[in-house]
Amino acid sequence: MARILITSALPYINGIKHLGNLVGSQLPADLFARYMRGRGHEVMYICATDEHGTPAELAATKAGKPVAEYCAELHDVQADIAKGFGISFDYFGRSSSDENRAFTQHFAAKLAENDLIEVVSDKQVYSNADGRFLPDRYIEGTCPNCGHVGARGDQCDECTKQLSPTDLIDPYSTISGSKDLEVRETKHLFLRQSKLRDTLDKWIDSKKDWPILTTSIAKKWLHDGDGLRDRGITRDLDWGVPVPDMPGKVFYVWFDAPIEYIGATAEWAKANGLGDDAWERWWRTDKGADDVRYVQFMGKDNVPFHTLSFPATIMGSKEPWKLVDYIKSFNYLNYDGGQFSTSKGRGVFMDQALSILPSDYWRWWLLSHAPENSDAEFTWENFQSSINKDLADVLGNFASRVTKFCRSKFGEVVPAGGEYGDDEKALIATLNQRLTAYNTHMDAMEVRKSAAELRAIWAAGNEYLQNAAPWTVFKTDPDAAAAVIRLSLNLIRLYAVLSKPFIPDASAALLTAMNTRDASWPDDVETALNTLPEGHTFTVPEVTFAKITDAQREEWQEKFAGVRD
Ligand code: MF3
Ligand code: ZN
Repeated sequence: MARILITSALPYINGIKHLGNLVGSQLPADLFARYMRGRGHEVMYICATDEHGTPAELAATKAGKPVAEYCAELHDVQADIAKGFGISFDYFGRSSSDENRAFTQHFAAKLAENDLIEVVSDKQVYSNADGRFLPDRYIEGTCPNCGHVGARGDQCDECTKQLSPTDLIDPYSTISGSKDLEVRETKHLFLRQSKLRDTLDKWIDSKKDWPILTTSIAKKWLHDGDGLRDRGITRDLDWGVPVPDMPGKVFYVWFDAPIEYIGATAEWAKANGLGDDAWERWWRTDKGADDVRYVQFMGKDNVPFHTLSFPATIMGSKEPWKLVDYIKSFNYLNYDGGQFSTSKGRGVFMDQALSILPSDYWRWWLLSHAPENSDAEFTWENFQSSINKDLADVLGNFASRVTKFCRSKFGEVVPAGGEYGDDEKALIATLNQRLTAYNTHMDAMEVRKSAAELRAIWAAGNEYLQNAAPWTVFKTDPDAAAAVIRLSLNLIRLYAVLSKPFIPDASAALLTAMNTRDASWPDDVETALNTLPEGHTFTVPEVTFAKITDAQREEWQEKFAGVRD
């Protein structure tokens, strides 16, 4: 049994995420966590809300709430929605926790001790009307690069250039609108990550098995000018992890957020009444974490922070912290000919998705179309046809036909009689091969390939049933039909087991209908297909998957094209 630590990128606290966010982080991480648990490994799947930074403060102001209260509420909202999608976190923490504050301050102190932090006198914009500094999004103005009016202090959305508040032309405060601004000198901490360039370069080079998407982004940032320049890791804000001995300053959100992977594991230990050793065995290589395999899941925009900045924090501490072993990154999911847009409310957001269909429909479509090798696109036509074919016509139909036919001819029990013959042996051989391939793809986190293999496993059963035609055979040889049905009922159980990482609710419903809790991962298909014995009772499952009609598709297409409040 192995120990596997899994994290998915921490969602920003402000607002509900769209399906594009979900498919690049929490959903594939959950798939992997469920699979690894299914294989009998010890899994720790950690995530949390990313609560600091100006977006959180601005969203709280917009909602008319104190930021701490806003974050507490939105944390619960995000936790509930993740639960609705069946995301099986071992713990969903908060980057504003006491634990994260302590770890963040600890890492900063270690980095300073190792001469990796520099105090720099920096120019920042101060608003006289607001009586405060205006970092990042607290200031807007005209972009010096493209002339866009309304560029933010950290970046121009129009031309994507990274900006600094002092770069803006005609700047104004986004708090008060005031233009009574001045540039003041103030001290900030800079992380001298450029000193770690060679170490990071070698480390990335040693990761031969990482996805190209991950290593190519890391390499680009390492070698293209801007990438590893020393960065300010403090801000003039109240909300955040306070910087010791620098009143009025907090750490930059991107410094404390990844540290919360550790913080949330400590939150988990505390919430479960466990001592420090419980989290240390996942994170400290001197306390047992050297045999942990640590895998991170994220969208491609997060890759630089996870391949360079966070490792720089860990390595720079010179303490025995666990470094990531594998980074699975994703391209973007687009929406119906354009991009998902949080600001424009374009596309389907997690809460809306669950309000129209059960989570398994979304999980199946998103995972089977995961943007692994290139960007992918959600269209309602594709969604409708995938769900109707894969889930309703193949898996759902198989379960329903087999159980209903059995009920009408033999009753709701696994029928006795007959024996598995050549067709059954051929099916078993095919399924054994496919099972091996499925395991291999799942081990490698090849999400689309895994989905394709699972679909083929379902289809093989359907094809077998179609050829075996028990409804015809029954008329002349009821015993032979009984054997076909016995195998098919066992196949429903096997499908439930193998499908659980993708569609956990349907899997549970099928296992309940098959009246069994034996969900152990199969070693070989023949044994698996002899699990439910003759005479074992079952019930016909409720309709597992309803088809999506054309009318529904059109209605939803219209509904989600537009603007959300
Ligand atoms: N909140 C960030 C985003 O959504 C991700 C933070 S990941 C962390 O892009 F590791 F830094 F926490
Ligand atoms: Zn611009």
